Amino acid sequence: MTKKIAVLPGDGIGPEIVAEAIKVLDWLNSDMNLGLVFENGLIGGAAYDVYGTPFPEQTIALVKQADAILLGAVGGPKWESLDISVRPEKGLLGLRSELQLFSNLRPAILYPQLAGASTLKPEVVSSLDLMIVRELTGGIYFGQPRGIRLLDNGERQGFNTLVYSESEIRRIAHSAFQIARKRNRRLCSVDKANVLECTELWREVVTETGKQYSDVQLSHMYVDNASMQLVRAPKQFDVIVTTNLFGDILSDTAAMLTGSIGMLPSASLDANSKGMYEPIHGSAPDIAGKGIANPLATILSAAMMLHYTFNDIEAAVRIKQAVNDALDASVRTADIYSEGMQKVSTSQMGNAVISALTKR
Ligand code: IPM
Ligand code: MG
Repeated sequence: MTKKIAVLPGDGIGPEIVAEAIKVLDWLNSDMNLGLVFENGLIGGAAYDVYGTPFPEQTIALVKQADAILLGAVGGPKWESLDISVRPEKGLLGLRSELQLFSNLRPAILYPQLAGASTLKPEVVSSLDLMIVRELTGGIYFGQPRGIRLLDNGERQGFNTLVYSESEIRRIAHSAFQIARKRNRRLCSVDKANVLECTELWREVVTETGKQYSDVQLSHMYVDNASMQLVRAPKQFDVIVTTNLFGDILSDTAAMLTGSIGMLPSASLDANSKGMYEPIHGSAPDIAGKGIANPLATILSAAMMLHYTFNDIEAAVRIKQAVNDALDASVRTADIYSEGMQKVSTSQMGNAVISALTKR
């Protein structure tokens, strides 16, 4: 069966890192007869430059007919002064919303080979493996009304709306409980129920949903405390489920615990496991075009695609093992380089993963 993958390299280092992930997928495609077919499209600033919009009709059509999407990154200084409605980030938000990719999985895993890269003490982060499940298509990111208005007194006022319906909370809760079930069966729901009514409802609905998952231990935490606990004792967490904005913030903190944001993949899934897969780091315009970016987060995103959309655990595990082997072989891109290691370029890192695949 043919599996259609829409490839959206985007901006900055996007094209360089996506090329390496495609190289790895291509190799596996021939080796395991996966039936993957790729079609490229434009998103973000790259799309704006051609079509005057960051999420053009052509790309909407492409992603709708695809089974999965592999995305690089969007944004850069070139487009920062554009109106917010056509900025590259709007392309990404449009894609999430258009496909209803409400469940965003952001794992934070510390590779033992990179333990020295974390700014936290080794004992605090060693063998860290946590998963943040971020609600991705609702909350304050999409709530109406929103805008900047002029008050009668002549002063401007900015406003956004935090809103969640019960069904939106329930579906992300189910998603998180099901993931917790496949891990260590502990789920922490993060909210601000002591202040925000919207998240008071969040807590209520998550608790109610939890009754169907008596095998998963559910706890609740306020977001301010969660941000503190993440840097104090991150290993207390297995799976965290939270709102769009809190998830945006906490997932950056969690990523930094591992010291290497260049290593972390993500998946954004709809109700049928159709998904968009992207590294969690951004477009890194400062190093774009230099061939030094770390492609491993994108390669690991491709592994998540094989796992979550195509249910091919074997192929996913092969990629993850190959990444591990490449690290064991001491090759490092600049972002994860340390003394005594071999510094390699973006494409050399891709080659190291393929070479590890051929050796297994
Ligand atoms: C992320 C990013 C995006 C977000 C931006 C680029 C719109 O920070 O994926 O975490 O805020 O969701
Ligand atoms: Mg973010």
